[in-house]
Amino acid sequence: MSGGLFIAGTGTSVGKTLVAAGLLRRLRARGVDAVPMKPVQTGALRRADGSWLAPDLELALSAAGLTVDAETRAHLSPFCYAPACSPHLAARIEGRPIELDRIAASAQWLAQRHGALVVEAAGGVLVPLGEGALMVDLMARLALPVVLVSPSGLGALNHALLSLEALRARGLAVLGVVLCDTAPASAEDRYIREDNGRAIAEIGRTRVLARVPYLGDPVAWPSVDRWLSGCVEALEAGCR
Ligand SMILES: Nc1ncnc2c1ncn2[C@@H]1O[C@H](COP(=O)(O)OP(=O)(O)OP(=O)(O)O)[C@@H](O)[C@H]1O
Ligand SMILES: [Mg+2]
Repeated sequence: MSGGLFIAGTGTSVGKTLVAAGLLRRLRARGVDAVPMKPVQTGALRRADGSWLAPDLELALSAAGLTVDAETRAHLSPFCYAPACSPHLAARIEGRPIELDRIAASAQWLAQRHGALVVEAAGGVLVPLGEGALMVDLMARLALPVVLVSPSGLGALNHALLSLEALRARGLAVLGVVLCDTAPASAEDRYIREDNGRAIAEIGRTRVLARVPYLGDPVAWPSVDRWLSGCVEALEAGCR
């Protein structure tokens, strides 16, 4: 899998970090020197020394048992903002515009030193980054194949199909969808979750690469590994 993956989502809090960290674990377990990247993190924390702590990046690093030096860490999450809101708004509030050139330069710096990048989006694919740019423009700039993370319950179909259209309209290669449920299924919606995977694959002309059901709180990584087993192999086959 040369270059890496861009993990997009149908919205915020749909399981992108969980899936990105899980795929990072699986890639590294297969001997690939993969590193996580969260180019734009809102809701970040500022440390006393002025450096930023990007929660999604920290989770991915810790899930993969990875430690990195300060220079590398700065490239893994180049644009961090404290307000927990859309990137365009956080950038405006803090007066620091998001620069796609700088993100692309960081991605290149990382790619020269590591085997693969697992890049996580912020929010959904049409989230604004400011100055006319959308998340999907950043994805087009990095030109990595995309995995779309979507819930499987009621409402998922529309969001997933819209996201697939937007990704393809930018010429992005969509490797498939990972269905991830951040809440338990009820007896009433189990049949919907079952069918939505099939409908997304058929109508969206894509593959469901994996399903990650609700795994409780806190989520145990070995169970994520099990549900994502086979996903990296399917991705590698799709990348050939
Ligand atoms: N399959 C699952 N089972 C149980 N909890 C889950 C599952 N997937 C995700 N979660 C939980 O749901 C919450 C949202 O997931 P996550 O942080 O991965 O979403 P996200 O799409 O990365 O959000 P953001 O847009 O903020 O980056 C987290 O608390 C996470 O631990
Ligand atoms: Mg996240």
